[in-house]
Amino acid sequence: MRLAALLVIATTGVLTAVVPGSPGTAAGLPYQDPSLPVATRVGDLLTRMSLDDKVGQMTQTERGVTTPADVTSYRIGSILSGGGSAPASNTATGWADMYDAYQRGALAAPLQIPMMYGIDAVHGNNNVLGSTIFPHNIGLGATRDPALVQNIGRATAEEVTGAGQDWTFAPCVCVARNDRWGRTYESFGENPELVTAMTTVVTGLQGQRLDGPASVLATAKHYLGDGGTTGGTDQGNTAISEAELRAIHLPPFRAAVQRGVGSVMVSFSSFNGAKLHGNKYLITDVLKGELGFTGFVVSDWAGIDQLDGQRGFTQAEVATAVNAGLDMLMVPENWRTFVGYLRAAVQSGQIPMSRIDDANRRILTKKFELGLFERPYADRSYAATIGSTAHRTLARQAVRESQVLLKNAGGILPLAKSGGKIFVAGRSADDIGNQSGGWTLSWQGASGNTVPGTSILAGIRAAAGSGTTVTYAKDGSGIDSSYRAAIAVLGETPYAEGQGDRPGSMSLDATDLATLNRLRATGVPVIVVLVSGRPLDIAAQLGGWTALVAAWLPGSEGAGVADVLFGDYAPTGKLPMTWMQSASQQPINDDDGKTPLFPYGYGLTY
Ligand code: BGC
Ligand code: BGC
Repeated sequence: MRLAALLVIATTGVLTAVVPGSPGTAAGLPYQDPSLPVATRVGDLLTRMSLDDKVGQMTQTERGVTTPADVTSYRIGSILSGGGSAPASNTATGWADMYDAYQRGALAAPLQIPMMYGIDAVHGNNNVLGSTIFPHNIGLGATRDPALVQNIGRATAEEVTGAGQDWTFAPCVCVARNDRWGRTYESFGENPELVTAMTTVVTGLQGQRLDGPASVLATAKHYLGDGGTTGGTDQGNTAISEAELRAIHLPPFRAAVQRGVGSVMVSFSSFNGAKLHGNKYLITDVLKGELGFTGFVVSDWAGIDQLDGQRGFTQAEVATAVNAGLDMLMVPENWRTFVGYLRAAVQSGQIPMSRIDDANRRILTKKFELGLFERPYADRSYAATIGSTAHRTLARQAVRESQVLLKNAGGILPLAKSGGKIFVAGRSADDIGNQSGGWTLSWQGASGNTVPGTSILAGIRAAAGSGTTVTYAKDGSGIDSSYRAAIAVLGETPYAEGQGDRPGSMSLDATDLATLNRLRATGVPVIVVLVSGRPLDIAAQLGGWTALVAAWLPGSEGAGVADVLFGDYAPTGKLPMTWMQSASQQPINDDDGKTPLFPYGYGLTY
């Protein structure tokens, strides 16, 4: 071991100083002793770390531009997968093998500090092919079921563990106030109390103890005010008073901190013109001071680039961000530049050593608490939980609980399972990609059956059984008046982040309207199942629809939609967002005096 470590130093030439107090191997040192308290272990380790070691711990790099040897030489503290960034073999084994290779790299450095792998498991472990894809948060908000959401956190943690990862960049506890925002679906709802109630997911993800079985570090994001930007612009400016910021956007973070959330991710957005990534008051004074957050703060993807409004980042931006209270920097691509700047900023006195030590103490505390020093490698015993029947059953329950029945003229729903014919149409009827939305296998998500699961159509066919003929045509062609009902499954196609912003129209597009027209022309009653990341501007069409169900972005288990349509379960979902009369009302929220199409909390049943 000693020889191996020395060789690494000699061949890379990156490390100049021999680690103080270290004989070149970490075995037997106090910080490696699991019987000592975590604080003692952290303190001991800190005294042995060089500046390079400490800079490395604060550095998070993207897997696509990082080798295991980089982890050894630069002492990289954390690797991440950006959206859709997966090993060549996108299987549990492929992920675990990749993880272990990075971990061997980390453990080859003299102090043998394990690296930590972070990923956006935001609705299940969605980058891993074959994982269970749960409904996006907006649907979970509609369930009003915090216990269910906690169970989903637990299931997700098992699927994350099974792929080797330690840390998820979830939950998004944003309070989406303007539905034009492309991340509205990542929000549990517009109401701070609702979002706060759903922080049970933190407990699900992290388990009762971070070193418990399949415990995964959670991240409350994006701090602070990401859902309150003017015009609903992603990464925009939240121009409100501090009192409103505290009343609307802070409560879920307070709750997540009380639940012991291990990390908090800073928002790309600004508060009254000041970028959060440089906001010492909100990060250090409010989050770490007032809220008592003892975990570590991570930046968002290349977030420090944006501080001075110029492309790329400078040493000054690094100093501003770290001095503001950022502990780990997600510098996905230009991490080598970052390492140099951070080291230089400390050496020149721009960043005090006490700040570096505080950041390291926070990061290392979580690594010890996770048990990474004792069990650094992937726990492959959880691989079998990925996409397991038990998890898919849980997801299906979440889907049916998230359906919100908004209109049901003449009690057309629930549909009988026998007699006559049912026509199914719409581009999201037979499309697991559409029903899963963004952050599914890729960053933006994609149409098509991109991941295994059950389409809404397959769920309808299974529910109807042999008692009813189900005919499907995506665009509605071929329908005639002989059908007893037509189910149109349509709405939005996948998007993520700013690419989903809708500053203009929030209506159905021409394709969906044409499909609806074909169905309506026959006089057959039309039941619309809206697959979308947010309320859409549908008031002009609603009169022509007999029934309307908001299905949100249900994920891989589309059968949960049919569970409600055919009455196996009565609908219980309630709107997590106020539903606009027209896009011109945005932002529209509960109790703001505007008259909605459907109020916050609305939802019919039978
Ligand atoms: C998003 C974060 C995400 C990160 C890593 C950013 O663009 O804003 O929510 O965790 O990328 O993928
Ligand atoms: C990554 C995402 C990230 C985004 C930020 C993408 O390339 O895959 O994870 O959130 O960039 O712009």
